[in-house]
Amino acid sequence: MRLRGRKFKQGLEAQADLVVLEPQKLKGRWRAFFGNDRPIMIEIGMGKGRFITQMSARNPEINYIGMDMFDELLQRGSEKARAVWREKGEERVPNLALVRGNAEFLEDMFEPGELTRIYLNFSDPWPKSKHGKRRLTHPLFLMRYKRLLSDIGEIHFKTDSLSLFEFSLNSFADTGLQLRNVSLHLHRDELREDLVMTEYETKFVGLGQPIYRLEAVIGARALAEHRERLDAEHADQERRAEEALARRKAGLAVAGDADEEREAEEERAD
Ligand SMILES: C[S@@+](CC[C@H](N)C(=O)[O-])C[C@H]1O[C@@H](n2cnc3c(N)ncnc32)[C@H](O)[C@@H]1O
Repeated sequence: MRLRGRKFKQGLEAQADLVVLEPQKLKGRWRAFFGNDRPIMIEIGMGKGRFITQMSARNPEINYIGMDMFDELLQRGSEKARAVWREKGEERVPNLALVRGNAEFLEDMFEPGELTRIYLNFSDPWPKSKHGKRRLTHPLFLMRYKRLLSDIGEIHFKTDSLSLFEFSLNSFADTGLQLRNVSLHLHRDELREDLVMTEYETKFVGLGQPIYRLEAVIGARALAEHRERLDAEHADQERRAEEALARRKAGLAVAGDADEEREAEEERAD
């Protein structure tokens, strides 16, 4: 049951250091909110906030935003954030904003280039095709994200829904976006402790369900660096393959010489 009501809202209003109820007012001014120029990464649809609060505690050099549409979730998120930072001995949460907002209006909240990474974790799958435009990986959303991400911008997406993942692969392809690290079973071999799990993820992994994941490289600089890395890897693979082929050829030639000598020996003996 969702907690609603004035008292609840007042609780959020009293947390202006952490909770942002009118994010449009900070458009273009998020760096001032955080008080530094560090990269800003957002989770759209943070739910109860486990992922984004843990990320903020793990990576103090990055600024995080957790966005959701419901006050109850912002409240839960703020409790989690304060608890994880208290464990680190900090009463203030220095690098996180919990934002009430709808991704449809993202461009009212951020200037182009203001975001460095967008996390989409277990977004609602909206299985009926008539609701396709509500899926957070619909090309309309992807184009919006692309406009807001900086030159090192990326999108990281994970889901338990095969149909949403399939739809999203097509969406990313149709939008001309470069993918990397695509996984059809993120935790197949062992839990990926390096990637913080969300509440939904913990539940689905507990049920033994596969988690699908991908990263999309968006920003021009990120894309150029990614391509450079791939080109270097491919050149190295080609060089190794050519060397192996040359070794095999030389081996065959040596074996061929030995065969000829043996045949000549046999002829002489005859
Ligand atoms: C299935 S839950 C996943 C929550 C969390 N990311 C997790 O993995 O545990 C999806 C969340 O996305 C939020 N959401 C759905 N559509 C949204 C939108 N257009 N803008 C912002 N949040 C949205 C919902 O309110 C819900 O909390």
